[in-house]
Amino acid sequence: MKSQYPIAFAAALLTSAVSAQTFQRLGTCPTLGCVFPPDQADFLAGQFFDVRLEVHAPQNGSEAIGLPPDESFTFTIAKGDEEGVPAAEYFQIDEPKLENWTFSWFEDLFAKDAKTPSVVDVRAKAYRRVALYEAGEYTATLTYNNGSTTKATWLVRDLEEERKTKNIVLFIGDGMTTNMITAARLIGHKTINGKYQSKMQLDQFPVLGHQMTHSIDSFITDSANSASALYTGHKSTVNCLGVYADSSKDPFDDPKVETIAELFHRLTGGHVGIVSTAYIADATPAALTAHTRDRSQYPHVIDSFLNGNTNYTWTNWTGPDVLFGGGAENFYPSALGGETYKDRDYYLEFADKGYQVIWNKTALDAASTSERALGIFTVSNMAKWLDRNVYKTNLNQSLSPSGDETPALDQPGLKEMTLKALEILHERSGDKGFFLMSEAASIDKMMHVLDYDRALGELLELDDTVKATINQLKEWGCDKETLVLVTADHGHGFDVMGSVDTAYLAAQNVDRKKRSAVGTYQNSGLSQYINTGNLTYTDSNFPSNWDPRYTLFQGLMADPDRRETWTVRKHGPREPAVETEEDSDDYVVNPEDGEGGILLNGTLPVSNDQGVHSLTDVPVFAVGPCQEKFGGVYSSIDIFFGMAECFGLARGKAE
Ligand SMILES: *[C@@H]1O[C@H](CO)[C@@H](O)[C@H](O)[C@H]1NC(C)=O
Ligand SMILES: *[C@@H]1O[C@H](CO)[C@@H](O)[C@H](O)[C@H]1NC(C)=O
Ligand SMILES: *[C@@H]1O[C@H](CO)[C@@H](O)[C@H](O)[C@H]1NC(C)=O
Ligand SMILES: *[C@@H]1O[C@H](CO)[C@@H](O)[C@H](O)[C@H]1NC(C)=O
Ligand SMILES: *[C@@H]1O[C@H](CO)[C@@H](O)[C@H](O)[C@H]1NC(C)=O
Ligand SMILES: *[C@@H]1O[C@H](CO)[C@@H](O)[C@H](O)[C@H]1NC(C)=O
Ligand SMILES: *[C@@H]1O[C@H](CO)[C@@H](O)[C@H](O)[C@H]1NC(C)=O
Ligand SMILES: *[C@@H]1O[C@H](CO)[C@@H](O)[C@H](O)[C@H]1NC(C)=O
Ligand SMILES: *[C@@H]1O[C@H](CO)[C@@H](O)[C@H](O)[C@H]1NC(C)=O
Ligand SMILES: [Zn+2]
Repeated sequence: MKSQYPIAFAAALLTSAVSAQTFQRLGTCPTLGCVFPPDQADFLAGQFFDVRLEVHAPQNGSEAIGLPPDESFTFTIAKGDEEGVPAAEYFQIDEPKLENWTFSWFEDLFAKDAKTPSVVDVRAKAYRRVALYEAGEYTATLTYNNGSTTKATWLVRDLEEERKTKNIVLFIGDGMTTNMITAARLIGHKTINGKYQSKMQLDQFPVLGHQMTHSIDSFITDSANSASALYTGHKSTVNCLGVYADSSKDPFDDPKVETIAELFHRLTGGHVGIVSTAYIADATPAALTAHTRDRSQYPHVIDSFLNGNTNYTWTNWTGPDVLFGGGAENFYPSALGGETYKDRDYYLEFADKGYQVIWNKTALDAASTSERALGIFTVSNMAKWLDRNVYKTNLNQSLSPSGDETPALDQPGLKEMTLKALEILHERSGDKGFFLMSEAASIDKMMHVLDYDRALGELLELDDTVKATINQLKEWGCDKETLVLVTADHGHGFDVMGSVDTAYLAAQNVDRKKRSAVGTYQNSGLSQYINTGNLTYTDSNFPSNWDPRYTLFQGLMADPDRRETWTVRKHGPREPAVETEEDSDDYVVNPEDGEGGILLNGTLPVSNDQGVHSLTDVPVFAVGPCQEKFGGVYSSIDIFFGMAECFGLARGKAE
């Protein structure tokens, strides 16, 4: 690519990089003086947060100033038109100590190829665990370098303080888009002459909203910062859990923001449940209690579920009532091949705090509903619906949650975990109420590996779980006091464009002829997944035939090299691309996929072995008290403010 451009043009690219598109010195800080939370941040009255200030002195690169950073910067807070007050005085805390560090970054791809990072010298301060209690606009002003200023306008939203719902159940279909719901409906529900004969549970919600998912400093999000936005009302940077990203190396010193789980527990004593089909240290569950700039700090995440934040005094978190999912490797110590915080046995840590420790579906079914429960059912991500129900021999892998390398054959699904979680929370929370987050994690994980069938199976399982939840709440008479939300954290560029005659495709040898197997418009025909009326697996709406001759012509917009046959993978989740040799960062079509189907070259950089997230807005479904707050088009952070307002958590006074 370099050689296509004249030298002058390449040089222009280099200098314009300072205004940072792809490579940024620090995402939310375009100037040399940084305030976190940054400009435009919204807060819940009384929500704890940390303030981080940084003053940067680039030592080289296009911004080099050749001076040490200013150490006498000042910081004030002003409410409305009032005079600014020094922050320590405003928050009534001691002036924090001055910190220093350096960090380096690449200005663009050319600098990266040439391995010439630019170094920045930093002076910083952190005001820990502060809050703003009065609604209105505030101006936070950092003054540095002899009179330069960075101003952040902060808004404490004016919300109703009255509690409108006793409980909230928040379902997150990780990576779930409207297109995926439409495809799942097509394979799970029958039509006659264009009319669906049954509806998904999601199709029956009275209120539908539409949320914008982007990160604070990039328009594509990952699941860490998108979950943080949903839970804290603060957008953040890729890989961040409940913090804004500062420039220091320590992944635990970044400025934190309090989450809905922490607030609900601290202010009302309400009970919290966390359920996911991922390894439980994964981003979507982790963002409820962990505060780190690096989502891959799994041992720390597991400790945070039990003990709250480990570094700084934060909240009076005392652990969830329910924690169900996979990821056993972060519970048993290194002697068994695990990786845990301080090499402790977290099964014992949880048991010592009164948790029932559960390792399989049989024990889950039998568990007491009056005691707290930790249920960890496998190493890594949980088995997919399709493997638990249809291709069961795929469960025969060395994934036992005990760490003894036997198979984890008796795994529950999202529905069994969620219903048990509801029973425990219902019984234990009494009149304090509960907050349950339940994540269908593998919609995302299976879309990443282009395993569309497994992804849609997970989505149908989510729908089935939502249906069972609503029925259970009605049975208890709790539906009028429980807000049920179903949303996603981001999407993938997935859609269905027609059908594929897999028999015809398999019979072709000439590449260009293979494409005739695709049927578009009138040749797309009708869904072949549901028409036997033979629901062997469950009484709900799942396909009776996952392997019809005419399948869906489906795919993503962003892929690695892959071989498409558009047939269900019977031997377990798909692995579309593999590395040519170890550490080469060069991924090609998985040779195990043979010679059938169509070889399609990827669109992503060759270092990708999977698809990636996309820009699309995602749907929000709401039913229950307060449902009306979730209609319309809004930002992901409004989910937090909506939930916090329904729970009556906006507290206009100091504790
Ligand atoms: C940086 O901080 C360390 C302590 O963390 C201190 O010893 C050192 O003097 C500081 N350096 C500068 C240049 O302020
Ligand atoms: C930038 O500065 C650092 C330290 O001052 C130095 O180690 C590094 O070599 C410099 N890089 C370039 C590209 O000049
Ligand atoms: C600030 O002013 C002092 C005194 O004039 C000077 O020494 C220093 O270099 C200035 N700093 C910056 C960042 O401009
Ligand atoms: C947390 O502390 C607040 C007061 O600071 C109290 O009202 C609340 O009940 C406590 N929650 C728990 C679970 O201890
Ligand atoms: C914060 O906690 C982590 C793990 O809990 C630890 O590794 C790290 O050193 C701590 N950082 C500070 C600044 O205390
Ligand atoms: C389930 O776990 C219990 C221990 O909690 C164990 O005794 C039992 O054998 C397990 N059952 C299956 C089917 O794995
Ligand atoms: C599970 O796999 C092992 C080896 O991979 C094999 O020996 C065993 O027969 C399998 N068990 C079942 C029930 O398929
Ligand atoms: C129903 O589905 C099962 C499982 O795929 C299959 O074995 C059986 O033959 C089917 N029955 C009919 C009537 O289609
Ligand atoms: C297309 O994919 C094949 C298999 O992964 C790979 O060997 C080949 O280099 C790719 N071609 C291009 C242009 O990327
Ligand atoms: Zn993802």
